Amino acid sequence: ASNKAWSGRFAEPVSDLVKRFTASVEFDKRLAEFDIEGSLAHAQMLNKVGVLSDDDLSAISAGMAAILEEIRAGKFEWSVDLEDVHMNIERRLTDRIGDAGKRLHTGRSRNDQVATDVRLYLRAAIDTLVVLVKDLQSALIELAEKNIATAMPGFTHLQVAQPVTFGHHLLAYVEMLERDRERLIDGRKRVNRLPLGAAALAGTSYPIDRHMVASLLGFDGVCENSLDAVSDRDFAIEFCATASLIMTHLSRLSEELILWMNPRFGFIDLADRFCTGSSIMPQKKNPDIPELVRGKTGRINGNLMALLTLMKSQPLAYNKDNQEDKEPLFDTIDTLIATLRVYADMMRGVVVKPEAMRRALRQGFATATDLADYLVKRGLAFRDAHEAVAQAVRYAETARKDLAELTLVELRSFSPLIGEDIFEFLTIEGSLAARDHVGGTAPQQVKAAIARAKQRLTST
Ligand code: ARG
Repeated sequence: ASNKAWSGRFAEPVSDLVKRFTASVEFDKRLAEFDIEGSLAHAQMLNKVGVLSDDDLSAISAGMAAILEEIRAGKFEWSVDLEDVHMNIERRLTDRIGDAGKRLHTGRSRNDQVATDVRLYLRAAIDTLVVLVKDLQSALIELAEKNIATAMPGFTHLQVAQPVTFGHHLLAYVEMLERDRERLIDGRKRVNRLPLGAAALAGTSYPIDRHMVASLLGFDGVCENSLDAVSDRDFAIEFCATASLIMTHLSRLSEELILWMNPRFGFIDLADRFCTGSSIMPQKKNPDIPELVRGKTGRINGNLMALLTLMKSQPLAYNKDNQEDKEPLFDTIDTLIATLRVYADMMRGVVVKPEAMRRALRQGFATATDLADYLVKRGLAFRDAHEAVAQAVRYAETARKDLAELTLVELRSFSPLIGEDIFEFLTIEGSLAARDHVGGTAPQQVKAAIARAKQRLTST
């Protein structure tokens, strides 16, 4: 006979291949602490409703405390023969305390047990991640504060469009991460429901108190339907979708950092400790961190697809397919935590090069829109103003000059409405200062936006 908990029904033990193929202990053992926490809450409840004696409860509590210590000390021997984290711990408990250990699983199934463990694990991970996203936002805000008025070209189509401040550009990412943080916090509500009590799928015939277990484990409530409770993984899929968005945002920023670090841009430098060299080219300083983050985004998107595909077409209720939810989920959590940590550090080491940003700005006719707006304010229809300025840009391009370098006579040849005051409008500072409304790039608006962003970070 094998030592599986369910082997009584079978005439022969599972083959070695099958044993290894079906086992999940190698990756689900990281649920151990939550598995024990869930078991203790379940046992307390069974005791309260009169299904488990006081003596059994004390034995289980003491036994689990000892097992927890073994696990923390790295002394617990995980066995593939025992398939998964749940049966490993239960067997160890029974070895230690005897029959009381065999009573723990009363009114419970591994199906509601594992769903509970994963939710507890993910809830803790979300709480860690919310703090890490916040810290990255703080790092971006710190950098933005130092660059409230640092002018750089804003791009559309990756072509110079209009002047923006570097601080304003950074705050765009603070906004993306703010929505991500909201998504994490909102998704947590759907994670934080208790599956236990669903048992295998239909509920249990014992007089259980699910609300007691929910409150012991800090859940906001119970999963309403037992079939749904054991088969639902959308809380994990939703989390992975949020993770994909976080990585997508960081991948976009990574792409920009890599471009900006290229000498053709030369807008920034990353601190040496975040770069690596080449084994053949002695001059190289490579932005490996942003490149890796961009690459890991593909992997996180892959994990999301894995979970969606895993769930698609699964009939109710629990199917063993669901054992495959763990590796993509854990990998997503691990990758996100590592990425956010290194990213916040890296952003704190960004060196800004304002002269290069300004040089780039002067080369792209970035204030052309300001000239058109000037003409509109003097009575020209915007479309006509657009046409006049387009002619001026064509002329300036052949003359190899920026708009601000044309003489008043040259400028007036495109519209007699242009007066001597035009040069204030064609400067970078004039262009920035003009965009003076909520959400605009005027330095005083950026300053106000920073104050609001900081306020949000302290209030949530
Ligand atoms: N290791 C399993 C999983 O991760 C636990 C649930 C097993 N349930 C079952 N009926 N085989 O999903």
